[in-house]
Amino acid sequence: MKGKVLILGGDGYLGWPTAMNLSNLGYSVAVVDNYLKRWIFNKLGVIPLIDCPDLQERVNIWKGLTGHEIKVYIGDIGGHDFLINLVKEFQPDTIIHYGEIPSAPYSMLNHNTSWETIQNNLNATLSVMWAIKTIDTDIHLIKLGTMGEYGTPNIDIEEGFIEIEKNGRTDRLPFPKLPGSFYHLSKVQDSDMLYLGVRMWGLRVTDLNQGPVYGIHTDESRIDKENRLIPHFHYDEFWGTVLNRFITQAVVGIPLTVYGKGGQKRGFLNITDTLQCVRLAVQHPANRGEFRVMNQFTEIFSVNELADKVKTVAKSLGLKVAIQNYPNPRKEAEEHHYNAKNTNLMGLGLQPNYLTDNVLIEMLEIAMRNKKNIRQDIILPGRAKWQ
Ligand SMILES: NC(=O)c1ccc[n+]([C@@H]2O[C@H](COP(=O)([O-])OP(=O)(O)OC[C@H]3O[C@@H](n4cnc5c(N)ncnc54)[C@H](O)[C@@H]3O)[C@@H](O)[C@H]2O)c1
Repeated sequence: MKGKVLILGGDGYLGWPTAMNLSNLGYSVAVVDNYLKRWIFNKLGVIPLIDCPDLQERVNIWKGLTGHEIKVYIGDIGGHDFLINLVKEFQPDTIIHYGEIPSAPYSMLNHNTSWETIQNNLNATLSVMWAIKTIDTDIHLIKLGTMGEYGTPNIDIEEGFIEIEKNGRTDRLPFPKLPGSFYHLSKVQDSDMLYLGVRMWGLRVTDLNQGPVYGIHTDESRIDKENRLIPHFHYDEFWGTVLNRFITQAVVGIPLTVYGKGGQKRGFLNITDTLQCVRLAVQHPANRGEFRVMNQFTEIFSVNELADKVKTVAKSLGLKVAIQNYPNPRKEAEEHHYNAKNTNLMGLGLQPNYLTDNVLIEMLEIAMRNKKNIRQDIILPGRAKWQ
């Protein structure tokens, strides 16, 4: 056995594929979730492209196909007694924390959704930190942050820290953050709390500042020919990341929804590289008393570049795709400097899977096979506005 990994948010887009991946590699894996995301997307009426069986069903399918067991706990990780009890029972070496509400538009919808996002995310992170402090400070916490914490400053983005010189003195301080939504702000606050836990209690923490992820299948989900192991794939304005949205738009013939001028640049990565990055972090834990920040993306694209790529590849499959500039519901710079470092994960051995035509073709073909499920009424922006 390689080690024990507890995955918080194990029902989610990234949590479930991570669980299968580590289980396949010989780790003992447990997943926790309270189905909060399912509750929210049902409430908003924005269900994913392909129906995902619940966690218990999926671990049964996984065991039937591979023989590997994944343990399931259902409950709120912010419920501190619940979390303490399960950490005591499972005794993980590593906790991977995906268990938050990750939607910027949802967090900007109204007072309730802002508060729900902030209180859920901070409560979850604080609960995990105290569980580790109480039970075993040797547990390595891998926390998913986002590149959106940095915003788009007019200087190069470092990995978590920056050397600053002021009046002849220098220090290495946390990189200034400029989040663009209450969701992103909650991730900044998470990072601040984690760094405090490292300084005060000597926790060992890896904060992975991840860019928007794209993709549907991973090596493990391909094992099931009935596609029951695919994660939640969203294409609506609340949960869909930009490339996943463009793919479904191309399939149903809605002009690709480029917000504003489309010059917004971000660092992106394939879902298989999320698994690779997290795996590298598990295999190379942070030291005791280390707050290790790694920027997790493999390529930088503007929104216009992504739209052009999808249009070209979709055309090769016989799809007619138009691109349209929509009024930007977000308040963000549409033309800006963007040069972010991502050398830490490369240094650990990350081998990027880039956004090739074949990657786009596979995504388009899956969306085409499930075209009947694509709800056109949930694609266009309009419900969540920043101002
Ligand atoms: N998907 C991306 O493109 C992306 C990019 C950058 C960062 N991230 C970060 O990665 C993490 C995972 O993202 P995702 O896309 O898989 O999100 P997701 O919403 O699909 O998964 C999160 C899971 O956590 C669960 N959860 C939330 N609060 C919980 C609680 N209090 N108790 C128990 N379970 C809870 C939800 O039910 C959901 O299943 C998030 O923290 C997100 O901020 C994601």
